[in-house]
Order: sequence, then structure tokens, then C-alpha cells
Amino acid sequence: MPPLFVLRLFTPSPFQTVQSLPGFRDFYPEDYAFRHQIVSSWRRTARTYGFVEYDGPPLESLELYQKKSGDELVGQLYNFVDKGDRPVSLRAEMTPTLARMVAAKHQQFRKPLKWFSVPQVFRYERAQKGRLREHFQLNCDLVGEAGIEADIELIALLVDQLRNLGLTAEDFVVRLSDRQFWTHFLKEKNVPEAQWYEVFQAIDKSEREPREKIAGRLDPLGLTDAVYQVLENGAPWERLDLVLAGLKARGLDGYARVDFRIVRGLAYYTGIVFEAFDRAGQHRAIAGGGRYDDLLEKLGNESLPAAGFGMGDVVLGDLLKAKGLLKTEDLPPEIDAYVVIPDEAYRARALGVVQTLREAGHAVDYPLVPTKMKKQFENAEGRRARWAVIADAKLENNLVELKTLADRTQREVSLSDLISQLS
Ligand code: HAM
Repeated sequence: MPPLFVLRLFTPSPFQTVQSLPGFRDFYPEDYAFRHQIVSSWRRTARTYGFVEYDGPPLESLELYQKKSGDELVGQLYNFVDKGDRPVSLRAEMTPTLARMVAAKHQQFRKPLKWFSVPQVFRYERAQKGRLREHFQLNCDLVGEAGIEADIELIALLVDQLRNLGLTAEDFVVRLSDRQFWTHFLKEKNVPEAQWYEVFQAIDKSEREPREKIAGRLDPLGLTDAVYQVLENGAPWERLDLVLAGLKARGLDGYARVDFRIVRGLAYYTGIVFEAFDRAGQHRAIAGGGRYDDLLEKLGNESLPAAGFGMGDVVLGDLLKAKGLLKTEDLPPEIDAYVVIPDEAYRARALGVVQTLREAGHAVDYPLVPTKMKKQFENAEGRRARWAVIADAKLENNLVELKTLADRTQREVSLSDLISQLS
């Protein structure tokens, strides 16, 4: 085969469209508006619990995750060596960054810290329903309080995050457990500490994988029957009763239940752990978190108790759409008013109206070039404008027609009253 032909076959044409990468999303304006609705609700609700917003860098040293996050997440890192020969990774979760930031400067802050953030995080996972290679993740963390009240506060916040997006106790449940229950259990069974994480991973997978497969991991430790006895029948554990009582005091106990299957995949959790799921069991976890009392000491040599949770926008968005809680019709208008110009002789005066309304803070659009009336009204409705301001010959008398698009009523308004009428 002549080399030129081979070259033509394999050199991409400069005109070929470049696809986005698998697991990465394009946010066209409507998708962006949905995302914005979720993120604004996250921010509003976090503030109602006294949380303040922070942020960190999207690129971190690889070491930060290798030390802290556990093998599963390390296997999903987007890591590379930068031009300064530093091994680095896109952030795969926020917790190590938060722990690093707090460990470096915690003396400067009054405890407990109640901090939240909405980073975009990146994980090289197999892209599937509910799991992508990037997502936006609300993180709420409470640092500097070891008492169970902090865990309850966080679980209550998680519940209210979902309630404020319109979900009810019929739609979701927070499943609670305590890693200390399992460490106590493993100590009693004389399982060496080096093998605990292996057992946690087996329990974590027990829901998605059949008992025979999990037994493959637990049999060598002689644990299969004892572990399944707990998973299937539960066990008394006072700290979890305390969490439920704390939620009950807030009227939120109907949103949570104890489930010893929850241990969490990440390595650093030390106490109460929890995950939120849709009740129908049709989606992956909506959110997950727990207490991680040793992480800050490992990063900053000073012991500081901490707990928190992360909630992604992917499963949540799917669930909200499935429940009819995220609909195009409910999106806010793209603009407040559309200035209709029926007669080009009045374009200059109409532009004066556009400018005045914009200076008053209104979102306003108008036809950039001469456009048929019918098309102008279609444009106004397409952008879900609340009003059409018809700027025609009446401008000679400092008047316009103001049309409310929802009910199609129309009235004459003087230019001096127009701003006060648009509210
Ligand atoms: P995580 O369970 O790995 O926890 O993630 C939290 C949530 O992020 C999940 O429940 C899910 O909603 C979402 N999520 C995770 N991976 C993906 C993915 N590939 N695609 C879409 N959504 C995803 C953590 O990351 C902990 N750092 C949370 C935390 C904060 N713990 C204490 N503080």
C-alpha cells in the first residue's frame, strides 16, 4: 500500500468533528439551568445550617490521594506527571483537599468549622448510569467536634438538602451504620487489623454481589456466617439509636434507618457512616459520608475530629427528573422582557428603551436585525420572557404597549412608569 494512502487514512481530517470524551458532559443552556437549580439549592440549604463556602485547587499532588483515599479511588485517578516532573492528579474527591487545607491553618479558625464546597471532581470510572468521569459534588464537612451531635447535624443537613429539592420520605432514605460496630465485631473475632479494610470492602460489595462471591473473601477469615447474620438480622448498637433519636427530635427520623451493610468504600472513615438512596432502589447512591477522625492528624500532625458527606449532581439529577421535579417548564425565564420593534423607523428609540431597562437591572433582549412581528413574539416566548414591550409609533408620545405573555393581556404604559411596572 503506498505510504501516502496510509497517511490519508489515518490522519484525522481538519474538518472532522471532535467528540467529547466518554463520561464528560456538555452543558447546553437548559442542562446548565438544571445544574444551576441543583447547585443553588445546595448552597441555600447549606447556609441555613450555618455552613460557609470554601474552595481548593482542581489539581493536587498525587501523594495526597495515595496516602488517604484507599485503593479503589487511587485506581480511578486522572493522574499524570506535570512539566515540572511532579506527580499530580485531578481532584477525585474533596475530602483530602479539605483535610490538607484545615491541617495547614486550623489555628486561625474558630471550631467547629462548618464548611461546604461544590467542586467538580474527576474519576476514571467505567461511565454508566449514575456514574460519569466528572461530576459536581456538594461537600459539607464539620471539623473540630467529636460528639455524635455533629454526625446528627450532618445527617439532618443531608435530609434537608434532598427535601428542599422536593424529594420526600417516599422518595429516599438515608441508611446509617457505624464502622466502630464492625471494628468491635472484628476485634471480638480476633481478625488482625491489617485485614479489616478487606472485610469492609466485602461488606460494601455485599449488596451488589452474590453471597457466594462475598464468601470467597470472608471464608478464609471464617467470617461469612457471622457477617451475614448481622447483615440480615441487624444487631443492637447504642450509638445508632442515639443518631435516630437526634433525628427524631428534629422530626426527621422517618428519613433514616440503620443498615449494617453501609461501611463506605473510602479508607479513612472511623465512625458513623451513611449513604442516601432512592427508596425504589433504581439508582446508585445519591450521597455518602461519615466520620473520619484520623485524617487530619495524618496530614497535619494534630488531631482534629471531622465528619462530612458528598452528594453528586448525576444520580440526584436523574432522580429529580424521574420524579418530575426538574422540568423545562419550571425553569426560570431566560429574560424578563423582549422589546418588540414592529417598525424599523422606531429602532433607535426602541434601543433607548432596551438600554433604560437593562440599566435598571432587567434582563432584556430584542431583534438585532429587522424581523417579522410573528417571529419576534416567538422569540420572546421561546426565551420564556414575562413581558413583551412593543416599541412602535406610540413612542412619539412616550408610550409603549406592555404585554404580559402568560395571560396575553396588554396595556398602554408611559415610559416613565415602565420600570416600576416590570416587577
Ligand atoms: P463518595 O461516596 O465517593 O464520597 O461520593 C459521594 C457522592 O458523589 C456519591 O454518593 C455520588 O452521588 C457521587 N459520585 C461519586 N462518584 C461519582 C461518579 N463517578 N459519577 C457521578 N457521581 C459520583 C466521597 O467522595 C467523600 N469524599 C464524601 C465525604 C465528604 N466524606 C466526608 N466528607
